[in-house]
Amino acid sequence: MRILITGITGFVGSHLAEYALSRGDVEVFGTARWRSRTENVEGILSEITIIDCDLRDACAVRRCLFEVKPEYVFHLAAQSYVPTSWIAPAETLTTNIISELNLLEAMRGADWEVRIQVAGSSEEYGLVHEDEAPIKETNPLRPLSPYAVSKVAQDLLAYQYHRSYGLYTVRTRAFNHEGPRRGQVFVTSDFARQIALIEKGRKEPVIEVGNLNARRDFTDVRDVVRAYWLALEKGEPGEVYNIGSGRAVTIREVLDMLLSMTDRKIEVRPVPERMRPSDVELLLADFSKFKALTGWEPRIPLEKTLADTLDYWRSRL
Ligand code: GDD
Repeated sequence: MRILITGITGFVGSHLAEYALSRGDVEVFGTARWRSRTENVEGILSEITIIDCDLRDACAVRRCLFEVKPEYVFHLAAQSYVPTSWIAPAETLTTNIISELNLLEAMRGADWEVRIQVAGSSEEYGLVHEDEAPIKETNPLRPLSPYAVSKVAQDLLAYQYHRSYGLYTVRTRAFNHEGPRRGQVFVTSDFARQIALIEKGRKEPVIEVGNLNARRDFTDVRDVVRAYWLALEKGEPGEVYNIGSGRAVTIREVLDMLLSMTDRKIEVRPVPERMRPSDVELLLADFSKFKALTGWEPRIPLEKTLADTLDYWRSRL
């Protein structure tokens, strides 16, 4: 079968491409912008086809879809860093919403069977009250950043295109996912990178941090891409599914786990610039709906995810 992964050179895209190839019977196509770096897919470049396509360009998207004629589309490409969305709200909203709109519009004209997974986010839940956790798909959406609003819009567009035109859309709301190749701005990768720099003597033994009290539900990216596949294989059209681990840890605990993996003595320094105008304080998944449908459960413990991320930075730097 043929699949199309938008944002194939990104963190999740590259892991999904590897997973799809490991299935043995899948031809993998992916979109990337012409300036995108390809280091995440270096090891599989000869096995995948990368199509130069800016998803904000409706004509380019249509051309790409009709050239590939995929059975499955995994829509991962996005501006995905929450703080950037405060600095560049218009760009975040345009990129995330219009790109998906272009895909859905192109799919309306498809004369073959095609399903699309839309990567929503637990950020859509935003403000979550203690008595609402673990969070079900039915929880109110109270987004706290332009990024989160863009994900709500993406999520609801996928719903609307299913209802209005019968498109086979499946919405996933993944909680935080981490692992090797994670962009360096995100918390696990940022902390791991700082530790690796310190170990190499390229940084004073001080780790800079932001809000350590926030709680997040972390899943390994390699488990998440397996879930995305199952979402398209078994997901009901128009439906939405949480994907997470069902365990919340504070960012302080993540920091402590990473610090326990190095023999260096490192000072922890809170930095005001790393604080957000409004942080999401609690994200904890109830993924029972997805588990009941697919049998999926995460397999890789957080400790391994963090150790692999640290090793990734040790070998990269
Ligand atoms: N990035 C970063 N850097 N975050 C920090 C730091 C720091 O130095 N110190 C504390 N944090 C806290 C943030 O305030 C936040 O509460 C938490 O660590 C996680 O931050 P990120 O790793 O940047 O991820 P996120 O939770 O904002 O968003 C990620 O997960 C979403 C799914 O829940 C992203 O991957 C989103 O794209 C994704 O939708």
